[in-house]
Amino acid sequence: MSCTGPRPGREVAVLGGGLIGLAVAWRAASRGLRVCLADPDPGSGASSAAAGMLAPVTEAHYGEERLLALNLRSAAAYPEFVRELENFTNMPAGFDTRGTLAVAFDRDDQAVLAETARFHARLGLDSDRLTGREARRLEPLLAPGVQAGLLVRGDHQIDNRMLHAALLAAAEKAGVCLHRARAGLLTDGTERVRGLLLESGERLPAEHVVLAAGCWSSEIEGLPPGVLPRIRPVRGQILRLAMPAVPVLTRTLRALVRGRSVYLVPRAHGELVVGATSDELGFDTGVTAGGVYELLREAHDVLPGISELPLVEARTGLRPGSPDNAPLLGHTALPGLIAATGHYRNGVLLTPVTADAVADLLTEGALPEYAAPFSPDRFAAADRLAASTGEF
Ligand code: GLY
Repeated sequence: MSCTGPRPGREVAVLGGGLIGLAVAWRAASRGLRVCLADPDPGSGASSAAAGMLAPVTEAHYGEERLLALNLRSAAAYPEFVRELENFTNMPAGFDTRGTLAVAFDRDDQAVLAETARFHARLGLDSDRLTGREARRLEPLLAPGVQAGLLVRGDHQIDNRMLHAALLAAAEKAGVCLHRARAGLLTDGTERVRGLLLESGERLPAEHVVLAAGCWSSEIEGLPPGVLPRIRPVRGQILRLAMPAVPVLTRTLRALVRGRSVYLVPRAHGELVVGATSDELGFDTGVTAGGVYELLREAHDVLPGISELPLVEARTGLRPGSPDNAPLLGHTALPGLIAATGHYRNGVLLTPVTADAVADLLTEGALPEYAAPFSPDRFAAADRLAASTGEF
């Protein structure tokens, strides 16, 4: 498909057809902008590997309160986002509100879970402490040794593969011109971005380029040095099992097992996702025997019934990690280039809020207040501070 020809009005080119890129493209096109998008294989990266947990509470970490506020906002936006998407495409997005149960396997894990409960209470987050017996009442196939639980009703999940398929359909229906091709930035030797340059040599001129290329964002052809901090790939190995008609689990389970974390995400259509490792090994996408062994060992310790389930998939995804593990949203130092990347562990969760914030920036010229702290220039400011204090 070609995006060339006379095009009145503003133009946007999106680089990356994962959940973030597609949602931005859909939202921008819905607001009347003319949008094209380039990706050689949309959704083949982290968007399809992910487990789809929408878990601002059970993934809240110490020192990340600012990110927590963004995560909570996006979680709150999900029901309406999904409703609009499903109505527009007539496709299900696999949104599931059955909640999340966190459990502790041994006494040490129980102490950590108790501290997590206190952390939630301090932040005013909604979670309820359970005894092991109460947890088993909710999920009868939990191992008898499970010591304690924490029920977080507001942490939901979505089938990220169904969501991606629906967003792809929505973007195309809204008029986004999709190029299944590798692309770099087009600058024409100037100090601003002028669009995208496809590997075929085809040019996609655009006033703004939205960079949504996940862990490849800082590797993009044509990106001048220093415009973005390094976005590092963080490998997650993840498994998919098939559940019987009577499921072994009815809600997302996050377990601490002898200090190690594992999650199990049951889909309504019978899939059980088990994840995930966190390996900083560059762009290596291999699945390892050790990674699979550890995931299955921990999962089996808390839910022994999984040993009978068919293992249908073992794969990896590369999370895009920014230097502070929070996303980069907004204008970069290269005029015309807008970042929508670096979502690390929260890409699925942050899809609605990212799309809306970037669409606001494109149509109104400014990021909404809630997104402003995630501007890429926070790293330039940190660098300046480090330079002035002699810290590197
Ligand atoms: N958010 C889940 C993960 O990154 O593994």
